[in-house]
Amino acid sequence: MSIDYKAEIERLKRELDVTVVAHYYQRDEVFEMADIIGDSLELARRCKADNNPWVVFCGVGFMGQSVKVIAPEKRVLMPKIACCAMARMIDGSFFDDSVNYMIEHGIPKEDILPITYINSDATVKAKVGEMGGLVCTSSNAYKIIEKGLESGKKILFVPDRCLGQNFANSMGLKSCVIGVGECDPKEADVICFNGFCSVHQLFTVDDVAFYRNKYPDIKIAVHPECDPSVVQAADFVGSTSQLIKYVNELDPEQKVAIGTEYNLVNRMRQKNTYVLSSTKPECPTMNETTLEDLYNTLKSIEEGKPMNEIHIDEHTVKYANLALERMLEIK
Ligand code: 13P
Ligand code: SF4
Repeated sequence: MSIDYKAEIERLKRELDVTVVAHYYQRDEVFEMADIIGDSLELARRCKADNNPWVVFCGVGFMGQSVKVIAPEKRVLMPKIACCAMARMIDGSFFDDSVNYMIEHGIPKEDILPITYINSDATVKAKVGEMGGLVCTSSNAYKIIEKGLESGKKILFVPDRCLGQNFANSMGLKSCVIGVGECDPKEADVICFNGFCSVHQLFTVDDVAFYRNKYPDIKIAVHPECDPSVVQAADFVGSTSQLIKYVNELDPEQKVAIGTEYNLVNRMRQKNTYVLSSTKPECPTMNETTLEDLYNTLKSIEEGKPMNEIHIDEHTVKYANLALERMLEIK
């Protein structure tokens, strides 16, 4: 007999003290089952304020980890152990190498302020926290970098070179990427690690030119994980929630091509909304979670054998929490 996953998920949610959380990039059928939806900043804030002891997080690993770090008493399960490709580009030793690069190029350790994009492992966040640094998301990077600059230190930005460079450009700051061309930390304000999102790299200036040729009045809206050349050619750049707000406030007749993940753009699709790429920009790991996975995870709580639970050691929680809380304190 086949299982009615939606009905069973609804039943389990009623019977268990659990909150189902989903990022905007999840498949529609999973997204519709969630109690809390949002971008990475909203999810971190709202999970912290939520009262249920169990969290089932439909997203990628660093997002579930962030809940565990800011609310260690919660039991956090992930229907799929899905990893963000960008977050996997840096680990603790690559982070140390980046700090050493700056030291070797004449910047003493105490003059370095590390900022990590939330798309990073808890161990990297802990290293950042230990050095007095903090986390940012694509929604608040501008504010966090601005605050960071008040310290008078050089900013080491990890792991997304695009986000680091895009915000530096928008603030009129000098930036460079370690390992790419000349990168003299003494000459730059923001020194970036060479990580990137493979999904947002799909959007190109040729895609922008294609749409502008086809529809001269079209607006181009992109996520700041896109390459700086694409961001410079766009009309609007914003995080997931900022993109949603921008598109919702446009005149319904206004054509707009959006440069971000497919499931989100498809959900926003009106007759004048286009995906800014001829290749379907799906985040493969975000897309992995299915209704069956969500059901199995909830069922595992009911049966007293929780699956895919996130465990993080005390030291990592302590220092990653410092880095996350420093971000959450900045309004
Ligand atoms: P948001 O912070 O906009 O949710 O982005 C997270 C992400 O992984 C984008 O690729
Ligand atoms: Fe990571 Fe890119 Fe997927 Fe976002 S879209 S979760 S940055 S791989």
